[in-house]
Amino acid sequence: MASSMLPALLLFVAFTAAGIAAAETTPLDEVCGQLGGFYVTPELCASALCSDPTSPCRAAGDAPAVAALAVRLAARNATATKASVEAALSSSNATFAGAEVTKGLQACLELYAGAVTALQWAAASVAAGQYRGAREVLQAAEYIPAGCNGMAGDVAALPKENGGFSYMAMVAHAVVASRIRDY
Ligand SMILES: *[C@@H]1O[C@H](CO)[C@@H](O)[C@H](O)[C@H]1NC(C)=O
Ligand SMILES: *[C@@H]1O[C@H](CO)[C@@H](O)[C@H](O)[C@H]1NC(C)=O
Repeated sequence: MASSMLPALLLFVAFTAAGIAAAETTPLDEVCGQLGGFYVTPELCASALCSDPTSPCRAAGDAPAVAALAVRLAARNATATKASVEAALSSSNATFAGAEVTKGLQACLELYAGAVTALQWAAASVAAGQYRGAREVLQAAEYIPAGCNGMAGDVAALPKENGGFSYMAMVAHAVVASRIRDY
């Protein structure tokens, strides 16, 4: 009798294992699920890290790979945002926007130019497993959008990408800072 039950039992075990495998969370879900202390919800985290179809977010194989992805995306996002601020600046010159707005956009552009260089360094650093330094770069980057708003004196003078970057910087900072806290 016991031997006749064995195949059924094995089948049951096989189905259960398959069910667990199907419901398994990816490293991205795990990393994104642990950022509450940084005021980053799992949804915000996943939407920022999965926003670029050329970098499949669920393919990141472990937590360090998720961190490397986050910083790479932040560097790319800053590069695209810098280009948008550049475009806003040249149209503000062309439309004779107030001198203060133009000056503010110029200063904002300089912040993004510096951030692109620093974030590219941070991306290489995190890819090599070094989180310190990169964390500070990301923390500073988080303040750029608000700084730009203040300097332009008029949120409407800034491209919408400026606001978008604040989410990306916030998520990337949280992901990298949570790696350091792990130690
Ligand atoms: C930057 O990332 C944010 C958050 O995912 C996104 O909404 C925004 O579109 C990105 N900006 C660019 C220029 O890719
Ligand atoms: C806008 O004008 C300022 C001052 O005239 C100039 O320095 C700057 O290069 C111009 N920017 C662009 C993007 O054309």
